[in-house]
Amino acid sequence: MRRMDFANRTVVLGVGGGIAAYKACEVARLIVKGRGKVRVAMTPAATKFVGPLTFQAISGAPVLVDLFDGQAEPSYGHLQLAREADLFLVAPATADLIARLRAGMGNDAVTTTALAVTCPVLIAPAMNTRMWKNPAVQENLAALIVRGWNVVGPGAGVLADGDVGEGRLAEPNEIATAASRLLGNLDLSGRRVVVTAGPTREPIDPVRFISNPSSGKMGYALAAVAARRGAEVVLVSGPTALADPAGCRTIRVETAEEMARAVEEVAGGMDLFIGAAAVSDYRPTTSAPHKVKKGAGDETLQLTRTPDILAGLGTRFGGKPDAPVLVGFAAETEEVIAHAREKLKGKRCDLVVANKVGGSGSGVGFGSDSNRVALVSSTELAEIEGPKERVAEAIVDWILPVLDARRPRAQPLK
Ligand code: C5P
Repeated sequence: MRRMDFANRTVVLGVGGGIAAYKACEVARLIVKGRGKVRVAMTPAATKFVGPLTFQAISGAPVLVDLFDGQAEPSYGHLQLAREADLFLVAPATADLIARLRAGMGNDAVTTTALAVTCPVLIAPAMNTRMWKNPAVQENLAALIVRGWNVVGPGAGVLADGDVGEGRLAEPNEIATAASRLLGNLDLSGRRVVVTAGPTREPIDPVRFISNPSSGKMGYALAAVAARRGAEVVLVSGPTALADPAGCRTIRVETAEEMARAVEEVAGGMDLFIGAAAVSDYRPTTSAPHKVKKGAGDETLQLTRTPDILAGLGTRFGGKPDAPVLVGFAAETEEVIAHAREKLKGKRCDLVVANKVGGSGSGVGFGSDSNRVALVSSTELAEIEGPKERVAEAIVDWILPVLDARRPRAQPLK
């Protein structure tokens, strides 16, 4: 399937009531241009910004707005739309609409359709930047992501109200590209991918451990994106609060040694390894079988190095002509790029995704839903910033040509 080919696919477009609703017309037009079928549901508020007739003209079909207008549409119109949908796209998703979707409400054409769909869902948020940063909005969105919904945007820039910042609806082209991907841009089909994610826990005794604040979100986003793009994905995850990503085999581990063993078991035949885990570099040399009681004075903890999983794979495969593509992460508090370059060489990987951690109030990095990273390879340096899903897509986009050059496909894309 070409990037923007929607042939034989139906996208149900749910339009929310924001100024960016006019851009949803362009999204609908791009899908129609890509030979797709578009069916539109609008919230009453959305009709204040763009008339249903506009969407009717673009999509060539009646628009569902009023659930109770038996004249215009049958009262079960939302169920019909949900049945037809190969993808449910909500654009723009306002703060109010996101909250209602999260709560599972069914009080307009968009939310009732959302309740009835069984296909993938993509939402494109758009709102004022201060509203976007509000924890209520972020929590609602995070809950939808946990449910397996996908998010595109928002972008940053000058907003309709003159504020500058994140909150702008993603560009129509970006939304249509994300939609076409979800509908099956299977550019990783036939590929075996192993991803590590989350922290590890190295026990001191049964109730204490050494660990770090990694949430696992970046690795989970990478696993989900790779699976969505057709790969067979094994996610080896340290302890996290996240649900297993859809379409992946998830192996849960606790310690660095368990993670190393799990990777070893699944590494044979892999095409791509992404080490997104924040693996503890040291473990207590001995782990007490019972809770250690505190004494009067100070204690010394003796530490032993854990196996370096990525470096081990680099030694095993690095430099071989058909080696799997190896991707590492470098979370650094200073000299980020220099350290990333050292890691690239030292661990013999193809790409290091570097990010600065530990700065206060940055809102990106450990635990957050956004990330600002630099992709460091032997020949390139590129910066990406945005929600972790989008960063994950960009990382996969970077990897793809390297993978295709190193390990040409035996079979053509489906
Ligand atoms: O050397 P550093 O820990 O900063 O390297 C980070 C990269 O190496 C990450 O990709 C991480 O997943 C990987 N790593 C590993 N095993 C370790 C330590 C780090 O795979 N024991």
